[in-house]
Amino acid sequence: MKNYFSTLFLVIGVFVKAQTTFTENVAPIIYNKCSSCHHTGGIAPLAFINYTEVKKHAGMISMAALDPKAKFMPPWMPDTQYSHFIDERVLTDKEMESIKNWISEGMVEGNKAAEPELPSFPKGSQLGKPDLVLSMKESFLHIGNNDDEYRVFILPTNLKEGHTVSAIEIVPGNPKIAHHIILGVDTTQFAEKLDAKDEGYGYSQYSGFGFYPTYDNWSGWVPGNKTRFFPDGISNYILPNSKVLLQMHYGPSPIDAWDSTTVNIFYSKTPVERFLKGWVISPNDIKDGPFFIKANTKQTFHAQYKVVGDCSLISVTPHAHWLGKKWEVFAVHPNGDTTHLIRINDWDFNWQNFFSFQKFIKLEKGSIIYCNVMYDNTEKNYRNPNRPLKNVAWGESAKDEMFLFYFAYVDYKQGDENIEIGGSLNSFDAIYNAEKKCINIFYNLAENTDVTLKLYDDKNKLITITENKGTEKGKHGTLFNTARLNPGTYWCKLITANYTSCKKVIIP
Ligand code: HEC
Repeated sequence: MKNYFSTLFLVIGVFVKAQTTFTENVAPIIYNKCSSCHHTGGIAPLAFINYTEVKKHAGMISMAALDPKAKFMPPWMPDTQYSHFIDERVLTDKEMESIKNWISEGMVEGNKAAEPELPSFPKGSQLGKPDLVLSMKESFLHIGNNDDEYRVFILPTNLKEGHTVSAIEIVPGNPKIAHHIILGVDTTQFAEKLDAKDEGYGYSQYSGFGFYPTYDNWSGWVPGNKTRFFPDGISNYILPNSKVLLQMHYGPSPIDAWDSTTVNIFYSKTPVERFLKGWVISPNDIKDGPFFIKANTKQTFHAQYKVVGDCSLISVTPHAHWLGKKWEVFAVHPNGDTTHLIRINDWDFNWQNFFSFQKFIKLEKGSIIYCNVMYDNTEKNYRNPNRPLKNVAWGESAKDEMFLFYFAYVDYKQGDENIEIGGSLNSFDAIYNAEKKCINIFYNLAENTDVTLKLYDDKNKLITITENKGTEKGKHGTLFNTARLNPGTYWCKLITANYTSCKKVIIP
């Protein structure tokens, strides 16, 4: 029986092995997994926005995203063999295979009508109308000297009273130079003092804010980041008379570039049951310290943190500088079970981020979080900023090191284990209904977004278009009436802010 089936599959395989084309096989991968950064005006250097551009750069794409030894795209640090997070940026084996086949088969374009359209990649808020918009007081000039620049700006909230917060969205003013962004909230005057000492708008500060503000790790952004509302009933808080500290890392630029970044704050509209809490594992928790990395050594530090009450973990944020190399963080429950939290095999300061779990992770009181971090202070670490090598200790400059593992959590509530944090994935399907003479359209949105639906004939002529602004996340269904259409092949396309898809429909 087994043999019979494998022969059958082999036969089918030979018959349906069709030409791999750009429009049908490759465009959906590139447009959904690369173009959010690689589009005109996006953060990344090349714009993978059409057949010509992708074909032109196929060699580089192959090296950057397919070569198992060299690949670094799409950028995603956590090891997906170890644990999973929402909005993971990875190519599946099947996707890599498709791109590989397309290149080896001669990079054929295919039928234009079968090509999904680029997502819309909107510039402003992706969540709707914010309740509080905090903008930089003036634009900042990042000098075009090919150097990184780290600068903190103080954004006063002018709030007389505090507010519960359901989402914090950072909109970089200039994605070409915004490399990563960290937010703090403060009620002291320390930042003002640092600002006064530094010429020009804002103050220079490589790591953090130069002091510990009231909230150190309030929110953050890296390219490709998607902001989401906190799960229902869960809220953050913004203090009265506070200011938001905006730490901008501007990437190297050959030309002068201006930035004016905005922070959008959304107040909670539903009753708040629980507040988001945070904690950080730091060198105080290291069992084999002191935190000091001798020149020409690789050193692993082992920290432990004991959970003080039942809680549900939501996200983690590891932080080190350029010597940090490997992270392994896991929790051991009181009953001896282990839960993997995050493993990073090649830490890259440039892609530090909040990593949100797909589901809450329950940690009972007495669970122990083990946080093991390896630092590489040898010549072999090509990111090592100290040449010649030197001993490295704790510090805020790029040539010093850090060991911080932030985690966000809420107090545990019965049933948390079953709550999905990120919601589901985007999906789209279009099926011809002969009886009703229509095309039934089904789609699921991972987030609230504008939706455009289009129907094309096989010659790529647009037949119908519908647009729905601000469609809620979740499942939707609609239809295209086909009573007046001739039999033939049609192509149904869905375009949202971050997702695109195209389905073939045959009207017999
Ligand atoms: C989250 C943003 C993001 C995504 C998604 C992304 N890239 Fe990149 N890519 C970058 C940035 C930024 C650079 C510039 C180098 C760096 O900073 O690492 C880059 C560089 C590259 C380069 C090298 C360009 C050069 O001039 O050296 C290639 C090739 C590339 N990416 C291909 C891809 C492919 C293929 C995908 C999808 C499978 C992808 N990238 C997804 C952000 C992204």
